[in-house]
Amino acid sequence: MSEITLDLRGIDKPRAYAELDGHIRAVLEGVDDPITAMATVACLVHHAFGHLWTGFYRVVAPGLLRVGPYQGALGCLEIAFGKGVCGTAAAEQRTVVVADVATFAGHISCDGRSRSEIVLPVKDRQGALVSVFDVDSEHVNAFDTSDEMGLATILGWFAGR
Ligand code: SME
Repeated sequence: MSEITLDLRGIDKPRAYAELDGHIRAVLEGVDDPITAMATVACLVHHAFGHLWTGFYRVVAPGLLRVGPYQGALGCLEIAFGKGVCGTAAAEQRTVVVADVATFAGHISCDGRSRSEIVLPVKDRQGALVSVFDVDSEHVNAFDTSDEMGLATILGWFAGR
């Protein structure tokens, strides 16, 4: 197991994500516990890029997300489908990129320093939505298609890809 926490700031994003995905898959070799995988992904993505908040909201009941595992300051504990960026991504089962949270009606502010955000749906082997993955930055416009593609590849682990 590659027991290190990579810092990939300063490397261009496609290359950074390729390295991070390989690293995460090496660390998770032989693991089949999704909570262990979520904790590992949240930790390694968070520290690779120095994000403000990085983590999962899990589907715990029809229409309800609950926080964890994550890295960063205290996150809201529960979010209903359709509420905020996370609830929108869950309800519509699509990635939502918010360049400036001030422009997203209904954005849920867990940390006043958050300026931009990306949320991706996470599906299991059967294609069912099991969680969303939320990354917050203290910089406006921090996320682009390379983040969307890189994170989707990493999150493919949960679908067994
Ligand atoms: N901003 C999110 C809420 C979660 S926190 O940022 C950790 C949202 O609007 O759904």
